[in-house]
Amino acid sequence: MEISTNVSKIKYAIRDILISAKEVEKTGKKLYYFNIGDPDKYDFDTPQFLKDALVEAITVDKANYYSESMGDSELRTEIVNRQKRLWGTELNPEKILVTAGVSEAISIISGSMAPGTEVLVPSPVYPSYLSYFTFHDICGIEYNTQESLDWQPDIDDIRNKITPKTQALLIINPNNPTGAVYPPKSVKAITDIAGEYNLLVISDEIYDLLTYEGGYKSTASLTDVPVLELNGISKTLLSPGWRLGWANLRDEDEKYSHLWEAMNKQSRIRLCANSPIQKAVAKVLNNDMNFLIEVNRKLKERATYFAKRINEMEGLSARIPQGAFYSFPRIDLPIDDTEFVLKVLKETGVVFVFGSGFGALGKQHFRSVVLPEIKVMEEALNHFELFMKNLNLSVK
Ligand SMILES: Cc1ncc(COP(=O)(O)O)c(C=O)c1O
Repeated sequence: MEISTNVSKIKYAIRDILISAKEVEKTGKKLYYFNIGDPDKYDFDTPQFLKDALVEAITVDKANYYSESMGDSELRTEIVNRQKRLWGTELNPEKILVTAGVSEAISIISGSMAPGTEVLVPSPVYPSYLSYFTFHDICGIEYNTQESLDWQPDIDDIRNKITPKTQALLIINPNNPTGAVYPPKSVKAITDIAGEYNLLVISDEIYDLLTYEGGYKSTASLTDVPVLELNGISKTLLSPGWRLGWANLRDEDEKYSHLWEAMNKQSRIRLCANSPIQKAVAKVLNNDMNFLIEVNRKLKERATYFAKRINEMEGLSARIPQGAFYSFPRIDLPIDDTEFVLKVLKETGVVFVFGSGFGALGKQHFRSVVLPEIKVMEEALNHFELFMKNLNLSVK
């Protein structure tokens, strides 16, 4: 059978690196997995209230049936309540599509746009966007973010990259892979451009409650332009394996009703998202989220520690992350980032992800999670530091 040429073009560096990691592991080397943004792989756990709600969902509520394709109506109402409670935005429950994680929402959106459509995406970017776009012949056009300004978006570059084919613009805030949190005025500047050029704003807010200093605001709360918001429970409810996310369209003038219908049409062919999980999440989505104070405290401490250790190593530098759980250090050495990451893996057992897997501005960088406990990071970074000392002969 011939294989789809579009499949051969897709990549997902965050998991692709595991193929090499498993080879190294077979040699008996201890590995430090710093590649996947999964808090449950470290000392974070899904809140007990969510676990209890799932037991109740399958026993008392017997929510073992298929749900509506667009999602359980109780959950959609709770999503409306969540966004109102947290950010003051008014959503329409009929414009919420519940998906198997934000990943499925990205797939459905990409599959709904006409081939050849241009979508502006930040560079560096979470790789699923570029891969799903490639798969569906959508052109992801990267706009710069500025490392020297803690990876804030370059507003002029966004303007310069707009062409007659540009239909949408993606914001990932808080950001994966850079750990940046955009101040409301930057988000407003971007949405103003979207308004001026008639672009749909796609706003990935999956890390919305994971910021270390506050100051974050949801995109839709800052503008009246149409916003297609993406969110889910993987990160803020510490439950990535539950696979639950959603897309919601805030589009008062119904400019994008054709897109919404296309997305719903696709959602019907995959029947529905997982019903018990939807039922459980509906019960707790608007619970007190005070457990996140401790989560953010730990993340800030770990992110600061990681960046400090990196900045002590010659040839490397890192901005201090402000949210999410990643650091994206720069490699100022005459070595390609993929080669660097593979060398680090083989010699130290530390699994980072090569930055070029995150688009053009990812080159000469690598991504690490800042999720492990300090003592684990310390052990891994001690090996890494030694490796860097031996490599340090040829700083650019
Ligand atoms: C920015 C961003 N969007 C989407 C996703 C996918 O999330 P989900 O687990 O909901 O599919 C991730 C996962 O790391 C992410 O970092």
